[in-house]
Amino acid sequence: MSRFSKLFTAVAAAATLACATVAPAHAADSTDANSNSISVFYYSLNDLFINQLSAALQDRALANGIKLRQYDADDDLMRQVTQIQSALVINKDGAPIIVNPVDTQNGIAALRAARQSDVPIIFFNRMPSEEALASYEDAWYVGSNPANSGYYQAEIVQSYFEAHPEADRNKDGVISYVMLKGEPSHQDSRIRSNTFVRTMLENGIKIKPIASISANWSQTRAQNEISALADRDQLKQVELIVCNNDAMALGAINALQAEGYNIPNTPAGDHSKYIPVVGIDALPQALDAVERGTMIGTVLNDYTAVADVMMRITEAYLNGEQITDDLIGYQSRNHIVDVPYVKVTNENISEVR
Ligand code: GAL
Repeated sequence: MSRFSKLFTAVAAAATLACATVAPAHAADSTDANSNSISVFYYSLNDLFINQLSAALQDRALANGIKLRQYDADDDLMRQVTQIQSALVINKDGAPIIVNPVDTQNGIAALRAARQSDVPIIFFNRMPSEEALASYEDAWYVGSNPANSGYYQAEIVQSYFEAHPEADRNKDGVISYVMLKGEPSHQDSRIRSNTFVRTMLENGIKIKPIASISANWSQTRAQNEISALADRDQLKQVELIVCNNDAMALGAINALQAEGYNIPNTPAGDHSKYIPVVGIDALPQALDAVERGTMIGTVLNDYTAVADVMMRITEAYLNGEQITDDLIGYQSRNHIVDVPYVKVTNENISEVR
């Protein structure tokens, strides 16, 4: 039981919930020690998905009268360590902190610091080890099982090639693909990629890698990588581009379009200048791409639900309530909350919008 929960009084709760402003990113520089605020630490707000999640969190906090102090580490490990340490010093009443670690390992340092300050800690997006989470009773992780997103990508690709056998342009019965991966150390890159490949093989679909490239979740890097393939005249061989996230899928599509491929609403059935692209996240821009047919599908990485669950847990701590799966709204195991992914194609896109 955290210090905040123990000391909780109705007066404190009323004061905590009365405040409804949102602090700007880089708030670490601020010396305004406001005990009514919740601190949120992002690995990088330049990441399109993280940015979307931050917007969802702000909306959710505002709606419930919670003030957010948001810290952007700009992908700098030391900056995040300093931000968390400074925020813990001014966190007088032990309100929970929400952390998206710069590095999956770094989460452990954040957890230790929070435990020492008797402050609950809610992780998202990069999961510390289960052992680390289990070492502190007020530590949580809210996220999704990465294997399921790789699995859904395989399903999207399989259905697409069944409906469009002409997408196998050289008609050799093998899908020649390029894989664009996220950061090598991230659980989502490794597990999404491996599950995609394993599922295709298990389903008896022949696949052949043309290239497997880490573009670090970045749209620009993905665009450069696919442009480089085009420069080497390799696009002709590529029959599929599988991306660990939508930002990279959008970058790939930009590069393809510069070469005259994947022009919106091209006639179905003509694959001479079309390479199927699949992503993960369901960013609004990717949903547009699916609707325009420049992308065959994506997987909803449910940032609105993740934001909602993290605020539910935060509020439960603030109110001294017990945290149950009913309260969370999703299943949890050992303080790991699983928010399901959702497969998205043109068939169900309106349900996801
Ligand atoms: C993944 C997400 C990526 C990227 C990454 C950052 O879950 O799909 O787009 O944001 O997290 O850690």
